[in-house]
Amino acid sequence: MLLLTGATGLVGSNLLSRLLAEGRQVRCLVRDPRRLGTQRVRVQIALGDLTDPPSFRNALRGVDTVVHLAAAIRDQPRGSIEELDGIATWRMVEAAERQGVERFVFFSALGASTHNRTRCLRAKALAEQAVAEADLHSIVFAPSLVYAPGDQWLTLLERLALLPVMPVSGRGRARFQPIWAEDAADCVVASLRDSDGERRRRYELAGPETLSHTEIVRTVLRALRRNRPLLHVPTPLVSRGLRLLEAAMGPRAPATWDEAELMEVSMLSRHGSADVEALGVVPQRMSAVLEAA
Ligand SMILES: NC(=O)c1ccc[n+]([C@@H]2O[C@H](COP(=O)([O-])OP(=O)(O)OC[C@H]3O[C@@H](n4cnc5c(N)ncnc54)[C@H](OP(=O)(O)O)[C@@H]3O)[C@@H](O)[C@H]2O)c1
Repeated sequence: MLLLTGATGLVGSNLLSRLLAEGRQVRCLVRDPRRLGTQRVRVQIALGDLTDPPSFRNALRGVDTVVHLAAAIRDQPRGSIEELDGIATWRMVEAAERQGVERFVFFSALGASTHNRTRCLRAKALAEQAVAEADLHSIVFAPSLVYAPGDQWLTLLERLALLPVMPVSGRGRARFQPIWAEDAADCVVASLRDSDGERRRRYELAGPETLSHTEIVRTVLRALRRNRPLLHVPTPLVSRGLRLLEAAMGPRAPATWDEAELMEVSMLSRHGSADVEALGVVPQRMSAVLEAA
């Protein structure tokens, strides 16, 4: 039995359909099973929440492999980014060790470090440390920006592209190697098949091109066939504006400063898409994926 967390997310939903197509038995730890759509009848469901570690114990019963994707890039009413991305992973790993899980697959992020300026990438660094110290086989994936047509972030950009000018937070100079969620899911499937007995593996998930934040926005505008001048909004203004918006709207805010700040720090792999290709996956260019959508 494989336990998948984050099955309703961008990578998780693509991964789940692949695992089921391979005939794997999957249990999903979810907050709301309805968000699994039609897949919910094909999996075992464990109701749980990252902020509720006792829910992990039931979910882990009889499980040999955990794929832990669930995470958040904004605070939730029941847990902060640090609790959701850092402490919850720590607790999940501890629970997995106690239940005799053999293999733990974890999604960290490129750039994760305890010194990173973003809360999310600091929390991911602590989580990655917990996985590295655990007494089980581990596979860590560190992706750059993950995207898919219709995802929340691209949908937000699509809406902003309706304005006469396209706002970009800050100077837009941070650089990324965007990877399509379907390519990321293919990498996970390939890593699960590859049973070479190695105790710890780490793969960096980078797409085939390096693009700045500004270049990504231009790529999105081209795919939408909308020609708009870019308006670079000074970072302190974006930070203040989004903090006010979050204070006013709470969880319904369309964007938060913690999310926007993630586009201020580069997420690059030194060896490009080599790890992706080593797993037998040929990563697609962002422009090709968006134009085909
Ligand atoms: N997307 C990127 O650019 C990127 C970059 C680097 C690393 N990563 C990492 O890659 C992994 C997958 O990312 P993704 O983009 O697929 O994530 P995503 O689309 O944001 O999905 C997040 C998932 O986590 C679940 N989740 C959130 N809060 C939860 C909670 N309190 N309890 C239980 N489940 C909860 C969500 O479930 P609900 O349906 O209940 O909300 C959803 O299934 C994550 O670990 C992420 O940090 C992503």
